[in-house]
Formats: sequence, structure tokens, C-alpha cells
Amino acid sequence: MTIGIDQLNFYIPNFYVDMAELAKARDVDPNKFLIGIGQTEMAVSPVSQDIVSMGANAAQPIITEQDKKNITMVIVATESAIDSAKASAVQIHHLLGIQPFARCLEMKEACYAATPAIQMAKDYLVPRPNEKVLVIASDTARYGLNSGGEPTQGAGAVAMVISHNPRIAELHDDSVAFTEDVYDFWRPSGEIYPLVDGKLSKDAYIHSFQESWNEYAKRYHKSLSDFAALCFHVPFTKMGQKALDSILTDTASEDTQARLNDSYKSATDYNRYVGNIYTGSLYLSLISLLENHDLNAGDHIGLFSYGSGSVGEFYTATLSDGFKDALDVEAHQAMLKNRKALSVEEYETFFKRFDNLEFDHDRELEVEPKGNFYLKEVSDNIRYYDTVK
Ligand code: COA
Repeated sequence: MTIGIDQLNFYIPNFYVDMAELAKARDVDPNKFLIGIGQTEMAVSPVSQDIVSMGANAAQPIITEQDKKNITMVIVATESAIDSAKASAVQIHHLLGIQPFARCLEMKEACYAATPAIQMAKDYLVPRPNEKVLVIASDTARYGLNSGGEPTQGAGAVAMVISHNPRIAELHDDSVAFTEDVYDFWRPSGEIYPLVDGKLSKDAYIHSFQESWNEYAKRYHKSLSDFAALCFHVPFTKMGQKALDSILTDTASEDTQARLNDSYKSATDYNRYVGNIYTGSLYLSLISLLENHDLNAGDHIGLFSYGSGSVGEFYTATLSDGFKDALDVEAHQAMLKNRKALSVEEYETFFKRFDNLEFDHDRELEVEPKGNFYLKEVSDNIRYYDTVK
């Protein structure tokens, strides 16, 4: 019996800001953002793209009419919830037209939650060979204008269909999770932006990775040479590299070091132009790896998921026969390429309008592809969605 990722897709908003421009506007050396943090562009969400519309947009292209009948659970992982009670999975289930006899829920643990959602889906499917689970990671990563975290913002969603006989990757049972109570990043209820201790968050991430990896290697008698590539949670591209460097130094052969360093570059190609999408960052990185690196069916991939607070998890997957055929590389690269650049001033306007729920559809939708879901209005605290005509 094999269970794993059968379909995998991402959606990002149609707008971005150039990091060199942002650096200049903030009186910072552009190389701090471009090299020190490792980000070139940052996705910017208009008010019309929230976690529901982005999640539905990520899922729509990979859900067939048959899938709508076979999906019996929808899980949305997010740390930018738009409601403290109602799960965004319920709205996404409705927008996608999935059959009604389904469980829908939202999961939270900072950037980590999509990983337990996938693990839960895998366990749930063991006695249900004909059913599928839709897992969506959707977030708007926002620290505030002029804040320390500003260069590590972003927005986007990743959708995954988990099923038996997966077309992309089989998931294994050998995961190791590591929990540590730490205040590196948190968002008290009612606050619109998170509180973050930047230095501590970098140290906590690396510590969590080392604990998860070392325990994994010990329990399952594995070494770095067993992996074709490692994928990391990517709040910014330099972060995963730092974690990788921390274990590569003296433990791995030169071949292994070169292979894991090269594959990390491919695994962050897309993230470099999107920024942090919190729960979806690891899975955007996985898509980036699969679409930009020379890998083969049967290759073994390690994935490190991290959510501040904190929980880390290291788990593994094996690529399926024909995995590349299940990915829409052309559509993904077109989505990245066709976005509209915003000046820093426009980005600031978008940013404020998002927080204040001020709508200006003509401006925002002018470059939206037809058929995309968007948030049309909020009336009496109810969110109404539509598709671009
Ligand atoms: N050229 C090249 N690199 C430069 C540079 C320049 N002109 N100026 C600075 N840098 C480097 C620094 O040396 C540093 O690299 P290092 O970490 O390898 O030493 C990097 O750029 C960032 O500089 P730093 O002083 O740490 O930046 P900061 O105090 O502005 O904080 C973050 C950066 C990422 C911590 C901050 O944006 C943040 O808090 N983000 C949100 C939290 C987050 O994403 N945490 C990650 C774990 S979940």
C-alpha cells in the first residue's frame, strides 16, 4: 500500500515588490535583502486575495470532477486565519464544489500545520483506498510596514491531494517531530501582526532542525548520503541554507555536500521570488525542487517542516514514476513571470488597504486571470467570494 502526494499546485497573488527597491526605500544596502536574507522579489496580496480565495485558486486546477466526489476531508493549514471559529476549509469546500459528506477543518501551529495535516490525511486514508484528502496551506505573511520582519513577508497557497497510489511522491512512516516551548514568533489573539524575536527565531529553527534530524538519523539508521535532496521550511532562502550548513560541515562526503547544496538552490528558486508563505513555504520549495532539479523516480527526499513556538518535523518521501508529468511547470513559471511589479508606494497602499478591508476591484483585478476566485466584499462580517469574469 502506498499513500502520498498525488497532486501538487501553488497559487500566488498577481503582484510583487522588488526587494532592491524596498531596500532603497528603507535606506538599507540592497545586498542585505538580496544576499544576506536571500530574497529577490516579494509577493504582495491585494485585499481581494485572502487565505480562502488563494487556497481555492491553488486547488482548483488540480481537482477533477471525480476528485470532487472522492474527497472526503479538506484541511486548511494557516496562521493567518480570518475567523477564530469558522474554518476556512468550509468556504474552500463550498467554492470548489466538493461533495457534502466531508470533514472540513483548519489546523494551526505557525508555519508547521500543513505537515501534521498531511500526516493526518495519510493515516485517515489507510482504511479508505478510494477516498482522497485535500490539504491546503494558505497564508498572508505580514509583519507590518517598516518592521524588522518586513523583508520576509509574502503571500500564497499550496494545495495537495493526498491519496493511495500517488502520482508525485510516496510518504513514509518514519517521521520525527520535535516540540519546544519557545517565544520566537507568536501572534496574541486580536493582534494583526506577529511579535517576533528575529535572532531567537533563527536559532530556534536551526536547533529544531538539528534535534529532528539527529533523532531521525539515530532511530532509522540513516545518513545524509541516503538523500537526493533535502527540502526546508523557507521563511527566506538563507534560513534553510543555514540549517543545512549546520549539519553538512564535517559529517558528509564532498559528493553529498555538493548534491545537497545544489538541490537546495533548485528547491528555493521559486521561494526567492515569492517570499515567506508560512505554512506553504516548505511545499512551495518542494514544487520548486521537483520542477527545477534533475531528479529521478525512486529518489529519496527529506523534508523539514518548522513552525515557531515551536514544532519541527523531519519526514521523508520517495518520488513516484512519472512524477514530472503530474506537475504543471509551464503554468507555474507563467504565474511567477506574469505578475505585476508594484512600486514601494503602491505596495504600501496595497498593504494598508488589505488591513482595512478597503476594496478597489478595478485596480486589483486588472491583471487577474479569468476564472480565479477573489474576495468580492465583506458585509455584516460575512465574506463573499466570486470568480473573475
Ligand atoms: N550584504 C550582504 N549581507 C548582509 C548585508 C549586506 N550589505 N547586511 C547584512 N547582511 C546579512 C547579515 O550578516 C545577516 O546574515 P547572517 O544571518 O548570515 O549573519 C543577514 O544579512 C540578515 O541580517 P540581520 O542583521 O540578521 O537582519 P535583521 O536584524 O534585519 O533580521 C530577520 C533579519 C530575518 C531575522 C528578520 O527579517 C525577521 O525577524 N524576520 C521574521 C522572522 C523569521 O523569518 N524568522 C525565521 C525563522 S522562522
